[in-house]
Amino acid sequence: MALRLGDMAPNFKAQTTAGEIDFYEYLGNSWGILFSHPADYTPVCTTELGKTALLKDEFAKRNVKVVAVSVDPLDRHAGWVRDINETQNVEVDFPLVADSDRNVATLYDMIHPNASATATVRSLFVIGPDKLVKLIITYPASTGRNFNEVLRVVDSLQLTANHSVATPADWIHGEDVIVVPAVSTEDALQKFPKGVKVVKPYLRYTPQPNL
Ligand code: BEZ
Repeated sequence: MALRLGDMAPNFKAQTTAGEIDFYEYLGNSWGILFSHPADYTPVCTTELGKTALLKDEFAKRNVKVVAVSVDPLDRHAGWVRDINETQNVEVDFPLVADSDRNVATLYDMIHPNASATATVRSLFVIGPDKLVKLIITYPASTGRNFNEVLRVVDSLQLTANHSVATPADWIHGEDVIVVPAVSTEDALQKFPKGVKVVKPYLRYTPQPNL
């Protein structure tokens, strides 16, 4: 059955370009991003893995560990990673799972048979330190993902987890956030010393609390 938000992310052991990993052990107490690609040596995927490598410091700042999945074998991965490093001017050092037996693709429902019988779609899961699925996005093979959007969502998820706030439409880091409905205005005034702007009883803003 397909995974949904709030489900436990399935654990797995896999061969990767960084050695064999147990997914849970690899993540430890970090946040995780698990994302799939249609295949090695494909142009859009090459740019996506390059962009992910480029954002290494941004992921580290947010305590996020990244794992990529591709259904090709390890020896193919090795040559492709060299190409990515060369063409995207990066150093891919996050694990790229060699999922030839489609174990991970099946666990995470990354093959959508009506899109392709064999290739994984562009699935991306954000997994919290509690190993619960916090975000699922699915893109078609022909559209590269926006990794700045992925970082933006991680920021939002971490604000919710740590500060009981939500983020409005098109929010970007630094802008005001929304007090979640579960917090009363009275409690919000205590909790958010920078102030609470009450537009409607259900629509309350506060400056981003972790700045
Ligand atoms: C790619 O991964 O680069 C790709 C796959 C299918 C269609 C177009 C691009």
